Amino acid sequence: MKHFTTIYDVANPNQLIEEALHLKKTPYAYSTLGQNKTLGLIFLNPSLRTRLSTQKAARMLGMEVMVMNLDKESWAIEWNDNVIMNGNTVEHIKDAAAVLGSYCDIIGMRAFPSLTNKKLDYSEKLLVQLMKYCNVPVISLESATLHPLQSLADAITIKENWKSEKKPKVVLTWAPHIKALPQAVPNSFAEWMTKLDVEFTITHPHGYELCDDFTKGASIEYNQEEALKDADFVYVKNWSSYSNYGAMPEVKDNWMMDLKKYAHTNNAKIMHCLPVRREVELSSLLIDHPHSLIQQQATNRVTAAQVVLKNMLHKMSGTENKKQEILELLES
Ligand code: CP
Repeated sequence: MKHFTTIYDVANPNQLIEEALHLKKTPYAYSTLGQNKTLGLIFLNPSLRTRLSTQKAARMLGMEVMVMNLDKESWAIEWNDNVIMNGNTVEHIKDAAAVLGSYCDIIGMRAFPSLTNKKLDYSEKLLVQLMKYCNVPVISLESATLHPLQSLADAITIKENWKSEKKPKVVLTWAPHIKALPQAVPNSFAEWMTKLDVEFTITHPHGYELCDDFTKGASIEYNQEEALKDADFVYVKNWSSYSNYGAMPEVKDNWMMDLKKYAHTNNAKIMHCLPVRREVELSSLLIDHPHSLIQQQATNRVTAAQVVLKNMLHKMSGTENKKQEILELLES
């Protein structure tokens, strides 16, 4: 795996999930793999889970970690090429990324969307510019459109909790919120679920359709109760409108997931990526329910980050071994 920014960076997602489950049982089996390697984590937005789980995962592999809140602690970055920098930006991403790449062997970046410019957000400009100029593997810590570490942790959690031969019914349900949130988590969850061995349904009010680049293969159901029927896993998440980009079209019906709606499911496991607004998105009774997997998902963020870093480190050491082999061959 060169970069990890989407499921398409993973050659075999099922194999990666199996590898993650094995790694979870033997978390210190590769405690020296990352020796003398540095992970740089740069954040343009807040984080609790991503920030801490990725650091923990890297340290379990023996890596050094550097963390920077790029938006607050560094110079104002110019992300556009071919500009005269006579405004507020102080340092071009071309220069900053090259410096970061010289300090770090792998770089992770969190960069949320603006939610005001769909074309720009969906071009993943910030992530693309970092990858273009840093010269080392890049991990998305949640980009404008995707959150692959979260989705990998979610996929690991579903696999851990499904023992039947039958495909589980997985339902992603839109939930209310007080502010406009990105589409990255639901896009990413859809991207992963449509490629795994599950029956996948998305339910949301009219006006909240996701970008169909990510939802191809999913069933879309506008009636939440209908969608929840016989669900084995229910993933609750808010997102803002994609078509009326970043808006929150009014929803008259009650979409908050609660015990009454839960009764339609097949004693489903409840999932949410966190942070969650209790009694707005999801009832406290369900968050704390015996069938809630919410804390397990957060725990699995460590395993997800660890298996991604392990694969990158293996690839690097393979490359380095090859370089050494060639040098030895030239010398002989
Ligand atoms: N789920 C998730 O990414 O959490 P943080 O925003 O706290 O990292």
